[in-house]
Amino acid sequence: MDQDIPVAERLQPITKDKEEPRRGGGAIASAIALMAFMGVGAAWFLNRSAESPTGTAATVMPTENLLGHLPYEEAPLAELEPVSADGQIKLRRAAAERFRAMVAAAQQEGVVLIPLSGFRSKQDQDYLFFEVKEQRAQRASERALVSAPPGYSEHHTGYAIDIGDGARPQTHLKEAFEDTPAFRWLGKNAARFSFELSFPRNNPQGVSYEPWHWRFVGDRHSLQTFYRARQLTLRNNP
Ligand code: DAL
Ligand code: ZN
Repeated sequence: MDQDIPVAERLQPITKDKEEPRRGGGAIASAIALMAFMGVGAAWFLNRSAESPTGTAATVMPTENLLGHLPYEEAPLAELEPVSADGQIKLRRAAAERFRAMVAAAQQEGVVLIPLSGFRSKQDQDYLFFEVKEQRAQRASERALVSAPPGYSEHHTGYAIDIGDGARPQTHLKEAFEDTPAFRWLGKNAARFSFELSFPRNNPQGVSYEPWHWRFVGDRHSLQTFYRARQLTLRNNP
C-alpha cells in the first residue's frame, strides 16, 4: 500500500527503546560515541571533497529553495544558440528553435517579439543580485522578489527568456508589458511553442509578477529541469 512512498521515506524514525537493558549500557554508550565521532569525521571529509580547490563554490546541487527561488544548473555553453540579431542573447538549442518559430508566427500577425535576456551565467547573476542589491540599498529578501540569487535563476538553464514588444520599448521588463499586443499574443499562442509564463501574479514561489519572463518546457530535459526541482523542494519543505 505504501509502494507510492519513496523507500527512504518508508523507513521508520529511530526511537529510543524503553525496554533497553541497563546492563552493558556503558559499552553501548562508548560504541555510540565512537560511531558519532566517525560520523562527524566522514561528514567533514565529504564536505571538504565537495569544495573546489580554492575552497569556494560547492559542486553539490542544492535541493531546497532560497528566498523563493529554485536551484538550477548552468547550461553547457556548447548547447546554446543565438536568438537575437546581434547574436548576444542565447538559448539552449531546442528552446532557441521554438523561440525563433514563435517570433516568425507572431510576425505574420504583425506582432514583434523581441528577446531581451536569455541564458545568464551564475557570474552574470551574481552581479545582478549582489551588486544591484547594494546599489539600491536593498535587503536580500527584497532583492529576491525581482531577481534570483546566483545558482537559482531560470536564466541559468538556457530555457528562460525575457520577451519585449518591439513596438513598445517603454514597456520592456515592466508590468505594463501585460498591456501590449505582444503579451496578448503570447497568452494565446505561447503554449503552441511550449513556452509558459514562469511568474504569474500570486505565484506560489512569491516572486513578483513578471509578464515578460517565459520558460520553455517542450522536451523531457526542460520539463524535468523545472518540475523536478519543484518536487524536491516540496519533499524537503512539505
Ligand atoms: N527575474 C527572475 C526571477 C530571475 O532573476 O531569474
Ligand atoms: Zn527573466
